[in-house]
Formats: sequence, structure tokens, C-alpha cells
Amino acid sequence: GLPARVRIHEVGARDGLQNEKTAVPTEVKAEFIRRLADAGLRTVEATSFVHPKWVPQLADAEQLYPQLADLAGAGVHLPVLVPNERGLDRALALGADRIAVFGSATETFAARNLNRTVAESLAMFEPVVARAKEGGAHVRGYLSMCFGDPWEGPVPVAQVVGVAKALLDLGCDELSLGDTIGTGTPGHVRSLLAALNGAGVATDRIGVHFHDTYGQALANTLAALEHGVATVDASAGGLGGCPYAKSATGNLATEDLVWMLDGLGIETGVDLAALTATSVWMAERLGRPSPSRTVRALSHK
Ligand code: HMG
Ligand code: MG
Repeated sequence: GLPARVRIHEVGARDGLQNEKTAVPTEVKAEFIRRLADAGLRTVEATSFVHPKWVPQLADAEQLYPQLADLAGAGVHLPVLVPNERGLDRALALGADRIAVFGSATETFAARNLNRTVAESLAMFEPVVARAKEGGAHVRGYLSMCFGDPWEGPVPVAQVVGVAKALLDLGCDELSLGDTIGTGTPGHVRSLLAALNGAGVATDRIGVHFHDTYGQALANTLAALEHGVATVDASAGGLGGCPYAKSATGNLATEDLVWMLDGLGIETGVDLAALTATSVWMAERLGRPSPSRTVRALSHK
């Protein structure tokens, strides 16, 4: 049956902004994150400690993260992306206690996003996960291209399961299955989840991360919920996309997700009106309307 409660892993400030061409001021990012937390989100991915040339928008991680200290103190989880030991050093120096490594199920995306083969990227993550765990940090393992890859086409389930297992074997606490370019459909979601369970991966360690490129994100989410998944990634206002994945548009909008979960009677702790107001505010800062259907419906005057 469906879970009674879903933990929303909010990625708007990271996945949502990483692709924005014009630099968003650090103070605006901090206020965005603060408003998301005020709307009831308890996991708000804050930024990435990646190479600043690779993702210029998040080059202010050192300035941003310390501005969020009071939120961390108030029990809001603020995970950050970390690809390698250099990134981990930067995150740990600021006291981060939740990190995420990000692998790829396909070779093409591993090369484009990490400048590594899949095996080399796992080797790069190994000391990151080990050191983070030693220090008591929580580690998420993202896995991109779990359904389709813009260069390689549909990605075989067995290939995804192999890399997923490898990430968990490194010591990741949870896995986030990324449909980076949004081509997945519900039957494919069911097959992948069943194959992961068959390979010994428990559903309670799995989160889902859908991009809404083909309008499938909510249907895919429902399929995952029916399978027992209770961690869902989403981006306020539907912001987002990966700069290194051709044709990746915004994530599942958090408002669209909360509308569905509210209707199903599934608890999230999120105040939809406050969240919508936050996305409208952010859309004004970015100078274009939110693509979220729910934001548009609720903010239409
Ligand atoms: P590289 O060029 O191979 O790096 O990039 P390197 O290890 O050869 O190092 C080169 C130089 O970069 C060195 O400096 C390092 O110190 C420096 P030098 O010694 O030459 O002066 N360097 C760094 N500086 C600051 N912070 C660092 C860092 N690392 C190295 N962390 C690298 C390899 C992994 C760094 C690069 O490819 C990179 O930063 N990639 C990040 C790409 C990215 O952030 N993509 C978006 C996130 S993934 C995503 O959006 C998908 C997701 O949402 C799920 C889904 O939708 O599927 C998560
Ligand atoms: Mg993503």
C-alpha cells in the first residue's frame, strides 16, 4: 500500500538553480532556502562543492552554506553534493553533516558529468564515502540515467542495478534513482524497483528523483509510492535541469507533488500555500513564471 508519510528531499536550490545562466545572488539563495524550510520542508539540498568552472552558479558554496547555520541548528537537513575528496574537504570545513555523491548508470554521462568512467567515478567516491561515514555524516548516493540516456538511449535495468549496488557497497545510506532526462514511464519504474529488491536492495533505502521533461514525473512517483518508496525528490516551482545532460528540464515540481500527496492523505509536513508563495517569489527573482501547474493554478488571481 501507499506510505502514510513521505519525506520530500527538496532540490530546488541545487538542481533547480545549477542550470541558471545568470548568477543568482547568494543572499537570494539563502532566503529561498529559508523560505523552503519555513514552508515545512525538512531536507533542503543547499548547494554543491563541485569545481566552480563546471557549475559556475554554485561557485558561492563557501559564502552560502555558513548563512544557513541557524537552519541546521533547528533540525533542517541541508545536504550538499560532493564529487571527490577536494569537495568533501570543502564541505567538512563548513561543518556539513549530510553529503551526496553522484554516480551515473551510463558511461557517456559519467564522462560528461564527472570526467571519469563509471568505474573511475566509483573509485573517486570510495574515500569520500568512507571519510564522510567515519565522521558520522549521512551519505546519499545519487544515480543518474536510471531510465534513459540522451546519448545511449534506454538504459538496461541490470546495468542500473549493478551501479546502484556498487554505490550502496561503498557505504551510502540511501540511493536516489535519477530519471535525469525524464523519459521513464511507470512500468519501467516498477521493473527497476523490483529488480533492485531482487538484488537485495531494500525499498526503505531508495528515493526517486524524477525530471518532468515528458510529463511523466507524477505518474512515475505514484508507481514508486505504490511500491513502498517514501522518499521523493522534488524542486520548488519545478526549477531545474542538469547542465551536462542534453534535454534535461526541470524536476518534478514540489507543489505538484504536495498537491497529489495531500489528495492521497499522505503526510508531508509541507504548507502548500507557503511553498507556492516561495516559488512565486523565486520566479520573480529569476524573471520568468514557474512551470509548475500547481503554482500557476494557485497563484492565478
Ligand atoms: P576534473 O577536471 O577531472 O578534476 O573534474 P580533477 O580531479 O582533474 O582536478 C582538476 C582541478 O580541479 C584541480 O585543481 C582540483 O583541485 C580542482 P588544480 O590542482 O589543477 O589547481 N578540483 C576542485 N576544485 C574545487 N572543488 C572541487 C574540485 N575537484 C577538483 N570539488 C570533477 C572532475 C568531478 C571535479 C568535475 O567533473 C565536476 O566538478 N563535476 C560536477 C558536475 C556537476 O556538478 N553536475 C551536476 C550535478 S549531477 C546532477 O545534476 C544529477 C542529479 O540531479 C540526479 C539526476 O537528475 O540524475 C544529482
Ligand atoms: Mg537532477
